[in-house]
Amino acid sequence: MSRNYLASSPWAPHFWDRVGVVAGAQWGDEGKGKFVSDAAPYTDVFVRSQGGPNSGHTVMVNSRKYAFHQVPSGAAFGKPSIMTAGMVLNPILLYEEMQQVDDPSVIVIDPRAAVITRAHRALDGYGEANGTAIGTTRQGMGPAYESKANRRELIVISDLLNRRVLRDKIANYARTHAAELLEISEMEQRAILKGELDPNSALVPSGLNFEQYCELLAGELFEAGKKLAPHIANDTSTILQQAVNDGKRILVEGAQGILLDRDIGTVPYVTSSRTTAGATLADAGLSRYADPDNGFWGVIKAYTTRVGGGPFPTELKDDTGELLRQKGFEFGTTTGRARRTGWFDAVATAYAIRMGEIKKGYFTKMDVLSAVKEPMICVAYEIDGGRTTQFPSDAGTLARAIPVLQPVGRIERMNRHDIVMAGRKNGFDALPENAGFYVDRVETLLRDLSGVKDFEISAVSVGPWKGQTVLKQAFA
Ligand code: IMP
Repeated sequence: MSRNYLASSPWAPHFWDRVGVVAGAQWGDEGKGKFVSDAAPYTDVFVRSQGGPNSGHTVMVNSRKYAFHQVPSGAAFGKPSIMTAGMVLNPILLYEEMQQVDDPSVIVIDPRAAVITRAHRALDGYGEANGTAIGTTRQGMGPAYESKANRRELIVISDLLNRRVLRDKIANYARTHAAELLEISEMEQRAILKGELDPNSALVPSGLNFEQYCELLAGELFEAGKKLAPHIANDTSTILQQAVNDGKRILVEGAQGILLDRDIGTVPYVTSSRTTAGATLADAGLSRYADPDNGFWGVIKAYTTRVGGGPFPTELKDDTGELLRQKGFEFGTTTGRARRTGWFDAVATAYAIRMGEIKKGYFTKMDVLSAVKEPMICVAYEIDGGRTTQFPSDAGTLARAIPVLQPVGRIERMNRHDIVMAGRKNGFDALPENAGFYVDRVETLLRDLSGVKDFEISAVSVGPWKGQTVLKQAFA
C-alpha cells in the first residue's frame, strides 16, 4: 500500500494527505511530468480536470518515455487516471495516446467532457490567421471551450455513442460556422496547390458538400467513440468521492502554466482554460479535500520559457537563449515548436505563486542552467521610467517592461547520483555552493514579492529521470 511505502521515503515530510494539486508556475513546460514521476509511487489516483490536447507532459518510467497530452500521467504507472468534465478532448488522438500504456483500462473519461472536432481545429487555425495571433497549438482548444461556454454548440463525450445525435450536433456546429469553414477550405486548397499542405491533413477537405462533411466528422468520431466506450464512466465525480472516502491519495495534474490562465494570465496571449492550482482543483471537485500544508505544488523552472506569442520580459534572443534551448531540449511536446527562452523572472513567478495558490515549489532544470557562464535573475521591472516589482495586469504594459537583472554565481556541474545520495542525508545542504545560493535567492524573492509568507522551494530536480531530485529536508 502506497501509504507505508511513503513513510520510508525522503518525500515523507513533503507529501500530501488525501488530495494534492500541481500547477505550472510560469508559462508552461516547467517539468510537471517529472514531478508526477517522483510523486507516482505514493499516489493512488491521478486526475486531469482542464485543458486537452494542447498540453504536453513527458513522463519517463523505467527507460520508457511517454508523451501525454490528454491522459493523466498516472496511466504510465498503471494507476487509475480520471479525466473530468472540465476537459476538452480530441477522441481520435485520445485513443491513439492511450495505446502507449500497457493497461489502458485504468483510464476513465467523464461523459460531460467536451469533444473537439475537425471543425473546431479548423476554426482555431482560422482565428490565428484572421484575428490576434496568440500562437495557439491549433488543437481546437479555444473553439471547443467556446462551444462549452455557449452550450448550444457543445458536443460532449457521451454524444459519441449515438451516431444520429452526434451527426445532428456536428451539423449544428458546421451550419453555425459555415462561412468560416468555406473560407478555410479555400485557404487549404491554395496551400495544397502550393505544396504547403498535405491533402490528407486538410481539416475541411474540398469536394465534399455540407452533408458529406458532416458525415465525415460524425463517422470518424463515432468510430473513436466505439473504442473509447469502455472508458466512459457515468460520472467521474462519484469515483473520486469514493477514492477520498477509501483514504486514497489523489493528485490533480494541472496543465499549461499559471501565466497562461484564461482569466489572470497575460491576456489575450493565454490558453482558453483556467490553470491556477485553485481552479484546477475546483474543476476536479476536490477543493475541500486538498491538504493545505503539503497539497499545493507549483513546478518552477530555473530559467523561463514560453511558446507562442505574448510579452516575455526576460527573453534572450542571443546565443545564451539558444544554449538554454539546446541544453534544455526546449522544443514543444505537442507542436515541436522551438520554445522562447530567457532568465528566471522572479516578478512574473511571484505573481503566479500568489494568484495560482502555490505553497510548495518543485524547482527544475538546475542542471541545464549550469551550462550558462553568467546566469542572471530578474528581480524587478523598469516600466516607463519607474521601477516596480508588481506584475502588470495588462499585456501592453508588460511588453514595455525592461528586466532589472542581478548576476548570480555560475551553477556548478553536478554528479546526479552523488548529489541525490548526499541530499538524503543533508537535504539542500548537499547542493553545491552556488546552486544552493541560487535556490535560496529564488525562494526568498518569491516569498517576498508574492507576499506568500509560507511559500518554500521543497524540491530541486537535477535530472530528467524519476528520483533525480533533492528534497529540502534531510532524511537520514
Ligand atoms: P492553446 O492552448 O492551444 O489555445 O494556445 C494558447 C497559448 O497557450 C499559446 O501560446 C500556446 O503556445 C500556449 N500553450 C498551450 N498549451 C501549452 C502547454 O502545454 N505548454 C506551454 N504552452 C502552452
